[in-house]
Amino acid sequence: MAQLWGGRFTKETDQMVYDFNASITFDQRLFEEDIEGSIAHVTMMAKQGVLTQEEKESIIAGLNSIKTDVESGALEISTKFEDIHSFVEANLIDRIGDAGKKMHTGRSRNDQVALDMRLYTRKQVVIVDDLLRGLLEVILKTMEENLDTYMPGFTHLQKAQPTTLAHHYGAYFEMFKRDRLRMKDILVRMNQCPLGAGAMAGTTYPLDRAYTAELMHFDGPTLNSMDSVADRDYLIEFLAALSTIMMHLSRFCEEIIIWNTNEYQFVELDDAYSTGSSIMPQKKNPDIAELVRGKTGRVYGALVSMLTTMKGLPLAYNKDMQEDKQVSFDAFDTVKDCLTLFTGMLSTMKFRKDKMAVSAMNGFTNATDAADYLVNKGVPFRDAHGIIGRLVLYCIDKNTSIDALSLAELKEISPVFEEDIYDAVSLETCVEKRLTIGAPGKDAMKQVIAINREYLNI
Ligand code: ARG
Repeated sequence: MAQLWGGRFTKETDQMVYDFNASITFDQRLFEEDIEGSIAHVTMMAKQGVLTQEEKESIIAGLNSIKTDVESGALEISTKFEDIHSFVEANLIDRIGDAGKKMHTGRSRNDQVALDMRLYTRKQVVIVDDLLRGLLEVILKTMEENLDTYMPGFTHLQKAQPTTLAHHYGAYFEMFKRDRLRMKDILVRMNQCPLGAGAMAGTTYPLDRAYTAELMHFDGPTLNSMDSVADRDYLIEFLAALSTIMMHLSRFCEEIIIWNTNEYQFVELDDAYSTGSSIMPQKKNPDIAELVRGKTGRVYGALVSMLTTMKGLPLAYNKDMQEDKQVSFDAFDTVKDCLTLFTGMLSTMKFRKDKMAVSAMNGFTNATDAADYLVNKGVPFRDAHGIIGRLVLYCIDKNTSIDALSLAELKEISPVFEEDIYDAVSLETCVEKRLTIGAPGKDAMKQVIAINREYLNI
């Protein structure tokens, strides 16, 4: 047992209590941030005359040597300490003696851990944003290359209207673009420095909180010391945004799993991103897509866990908040792994364009266009809808498609049909006539791609 607060106690902590209370097995992840925060703190304290120049230099040199030793493996983060803060401080005192005992002046572990967690999370937000950017690159490239790769579009998982792969991928581009915007937004809101809040009521030392904030590239200090140590909103926001990313990935995975089925055969997964079966030699399973879909629940779990942990907490710090770490770290790791693997899987996946085009053509995906054709010839839309409905029934009965009927057959259902119906319901026309912004027609898609290309280039 190695703790910072023995003075008031006359009895040893029960070992099980100590273990239950300790956080070093997981908060050692905050090691780098803890050192960074301490360096900023003592730099400010020396500027304010609370620590001497020599004390500051000795503390910083000590902290840097601990960092070097941990990184090189010469010093192991020992789990006999209660938490990472105690480990660093005890080591510092070991190395530099009395000056080390002054490091914690004007600080509490409450504002220390609030700072460490914020610094760590800020880095994660940037990493996730970067991974999203990489994914968007792959999606946009596929869009650029597949402006006329036709495929069926669905509603209710029933064939609806034909579209293109570029258009379908474009939907995901917008989702992940919004996810990136959320990262940017979270960064703005979280970028205030809680250090200097002390345990909850600030300190009596003449801290320069704005200076500490500046040293760690925050936009400024937080404005209420109780909120500073009790706030984990930024984590909840980030976990909510991560959950949304996972929801998007999971939907995309679900589609890939469907496209990869024997019934669809729209895609061929790269061997490096699929797995076999121990019993069925023919199998090539989309395990990565399934796992990403599966891990979504885990990330949602972290969000719900944090919301629940925080909901009943009176101000200010409560030990419950130590529970923020494991679930958040797990969610960060999970999302980063999922984004990396999903991007790899997507960039190596091949499309069976022939199968996609055939599928786009059957299933009466051109029925809306056939109705629009009649409307253009003066038939009111509601009547046209009824006529095409009967036409579809006729085709189902004859096991054929609208474009395969003879003009005589068509005319029997409505005399309005002319020779130009065939062009009007061709796959190409169905897609290329949809030219309003956001629609799959090539010229509309090109405009959107140009906007998104520019967005990615900034
Ligand atoms: N391990 C603690 C946490 O993660 C650090 C803060 C401890 N503060 C305290 N008053 N016991 O929240």
